Amino acid sequence: TRPLRIAPSILSADFARLGAEVQAIAEAGADYIHVDVMDGHFVPNISFGAPVMNAVRGATDKIFDVHLMIAPTDPYLSDFAKGGADIITVHAEAGPHLHRSLQAIRALGKKAGVALNPATPVSAIEHVIDDCDLVLVMSVNPGFGGQSFIPESLNKIAQARALIGGRDIDLEVDGGVTADNARAIVQAGANVLVAGSAIYAGNDPTTYAERIRTIRHA
Ligand code: DX5
Ligand code: ZN
Repeated sequence: TRPLRIAPSILSADFARLGAEVQAIAEAGADYIHVDVMDGHFVPNISFGAPVMNAVRGATDKIFDVHLMIAPTDPYLSDFAKGGADIITVHAEAGPHLHRSLQAIRALGKKAGVALNPATPVSAIEHVIDDCDLVLVMSVNPGFGGQSFIPESLNKIAQARALIGGRDIDLEVDGGVTADNARAIVQAGANVLVAGSAIYAGNDPTTYAERIRTIRHA
């Protein structure tokens, strides 16, 4: 199985000091930098886009794991590729042509991810699994940080793990991840844990390394 990766979500960072926050989280031991892009249409909130991400790209050379909660996605893929994304994840629910979107991401030379909202079954991606480098199981309804983990997500993570089998694909979980549920999430089969509020709460950089360590060793 693939190594455990901790992916702090900069959605919960102090946006007034975003570059410094990215650098601090990288130095604190983050494996991926999780970048939540929201459009106020696919999800009921607006965060930031490719120019803001690109402005902080130089703060670290860690992997930028970009979670697009936008629809449509295809017109913006090259902006995020040029802006410094390494992994670009689109939602299975964002449009009728998921296969096309995944192929477009790989054609840009980036890793292609697909995200599933809580109500979307794992079977929705059965026929595109070989076009994916990452599967993201949403364990909250996307749009906001600081929500509670939906317990049924554990069954879904196990189903996604079964679909992935021995393929070289990350299984990422996003929403309400804490040191208290991290162990169960990894036991269900996930290897990438996104955490926003559990790491960034209080926005005190001196706490970040300990919080990442606590989740990693849970
Ligand atoms: C939710 C985002 C998440 C979120 C996670 O729409 O995709 O990445 O920021 O935040 P926490 O860990 O606070 O649930
Ligand atoms: Zn996310």
